[in-house]
Amino acid sequence: MKDIDQAAMSPDDWDEMISPRPDVQDFDRVVEAAISRRGFMNGVIAFGSGAAVMGTSMLKGTTAMAGQSDRFAFEQLPIQTDGTVHVPEGYEWKILVRWGDPLFSDAPAFDATTGIPTEGSDRVFGENTDGMELFNIGGGTELLVVNSEYVNTTTNLPQNEEGKVASAEDVLRLQNFQGVSVMEVTEGENGWEVVIDSPYNRRIHHNTPMTIDGPAAGHDLLKTEADPTGTASLGTFNNCGSGRTPWGTYLTCEENFNGYFGATEVPELDEATAAGFIRYGVNTEVDPNRYNYHGFDARFDISKNPNEPHRAGYIVEIDPAKPDSTPVKHTALGRFKHENAAYALAPDGRVAVYMGDDERGEFMYKWLSRDKYVPGGDTSTLLSEGQLYAARFNDDMSGEWVALTPAATGMDAAQIAIFSRMAASAVGATTMDRPEWVAVNPTAVEAYCCLTNNKNRGVKPNAGGDDTSANGPNPREENNFGQIVRWRPDGDNHASNTFEWDLYVMAGNPVVHGDTAYGGSANVNEGNMFNSPDGMQFDTTGIMWIQTDGDDENEGEFAGMGNNQMLAGDPVTGEIRRFLTGPNGAEVTGLTWSSDRRTMFVGIQHPDAPFPDGEGSLPRSAIVAVKRSDGALVG
Ligand code: FEO
Ligand code: CA
Ligand code: CA
Ligand code: CA
Repeated sequence: MKDIDQAAMSPDDWDEMISPRPDVQDFDRVVEAAISRRGFMNGVIAFGSGAAVMGTSMLKGTTAMAGQSDRFAFEQLPIQTDGTVHVPEGYEWKILVRWGDPLFSDAPAFDATTGIPTEGSDRVFGENTDGMELFNIGGGTELLVVNSEYVNTTTNLPQNEEGKVASAEDVLRLQNFQGVSVMEVTEGENGWEVVIDSPYNRRIHHNTPMTIDGPAAGHDLLKTEADPTGTASLGTFNNCGSGRTPWGTYLTCEENFNGYFGATEVPELDEATAAGFIRYGVNTEVDPNRYNYHGFDARFDISKNPNEPHRAGYIVEIDPAKPDSTPVKHTALGRFKHENAAYALAPDGRVAVYMGDDERGEFMYKWLSRDKYVPGGDTSTLLSEGQLYAARFNDDMSGEWVALTPAATGMDAAQIAIFSRMAASAVGATTMDRPEWVAVNPTAVEAYCCLTNNKNRGVKPNAGGDDTSANGPNPREENNFGQIVRWRPDGDNHASNTFEWDLYVMAGNPVVHGDTAYGGSANVNEGNMFNSPDGMQFDTTGIMWIQTDGDDENEGEFAGMGNNQMLAGDPVTGEIRRFLTGPNGAEVTGLTWSSDRRTMFVGIQHPDAPFPDGEGSLPRSAIVAVKRSDGALVG
């Protein structure tokens, strides 16, 4: 079964399979069975003046919600279950770029049934589009920077049985399709397109040279035979969500990096390394796994290079305006399965970066720069020195960012940077339901995180043995639907160590589960229901856009939810309205806007249907450009 399924599995399912959690669980609390949808939302703290509105509308339920449409310029799109993209009336979409489309004129042509050959596989747009950001670098030049999270081996190696890697050339092809694509985009008569051969176009992949900086740089655990300094590595891995800085750089976030490593013989590991591999899910068994890089590229063989996995799992900064610049892995921001990175400036100019660790029962983090951001000043080391914190949520709706210091954790600064999960466990951080994207509201001092789902909540501890009983922001056992937590820092200051929190929404199925916690909060109804919130971005008007990566079978627990989708959320009233649906099997992930705010770019990852080219063609992840038919602003 393992071999049959692995090539088609999502990275998350794959990760769960290769690093199963312990079965034993001794949780001592459960969600109160009596929690009602109203009762739950009643219990949630309500913030500021908008809170009264939110509380009222929640209590009145769907009738009141349906009347509040002022902030949305569209009518709700019904669910869809087909193989293409849908948007509401008055909007239209077009393909901007598909996996395998050329970034350079010397790129090989895409074959509709076999894809792209190895030669030139680093000259095309990567596979499985994910986080992205658009940068206007002046002179009318717009650069779209996009993550390519992973590869489907059966699609890319159609000549091999079950897509199994069989040569170094196969490995290179897979490595080239992942990482980051930088590409100039422009809008002409036929809509948006990539500027082929732009001097800014660039592929960053699994072999691109990187600098390692911050507290772990040069540490023994980061040294390898090829890099005895521990400050230079090759490649960035499993690039999931994105972030940006106020100074115009792109942040790519290394998520399930563990899946690229394996062993050709039983590795001999020191204690710290062995413990880290367990906590981070690096497979130490001799087994040709999903990618089997290690079978043909010794860098990924932990029996030969046990420190190589310590060089992945970071936030990586890329300057898109400088095509020759070397990306920097910032160890200061911690090592875990990074989803995305959302910055907020503190009143004094320090930079706060909020981050989630997407694994069942792992944590949420904040990092605060030591130095202040001064527009026009030197920003080259702003992300190099600062303090990492992990979130502790209290059931009384308060919370704190607990500093991961040597005194608090018993670890030194480099160990905290490399084994951040263990540091957060040491201070009793709150185990979360798979933190995915964080987003910061530009119109209020508050931030949000999608807690996508957690089938293990109340069932198993995390890989560090931390209890995962139901807790305040994660109130449901065997949580298949997910929720979005919101926090407001005390003193309206993102540098503050304390905050108040509530749940913006608990996804659920009110038709199947009625007035229970699994029916969702009161801003979820038969018309707008969804599961597994994942991607999230605010537009400039303060509307929150929510993207889903969930079960799209549209039956059982998920009946009535249709394909994965993108919804708009009003932070003040709590209203949520469906805006876009993806093709069968696809996740909707990645969202950014053109600088004139008349186009939104939306990512479609891992479609099952032959999207977008129709019957007989390979399914291709793609970015679509969505506009209003009348050309008005879209955010
Ligand atoms: Fe790559 Fe957690 O999504
Ligand atoms: Ca995600
Ligand atoms: Ca996800
Ligand atoms: Ca994904």
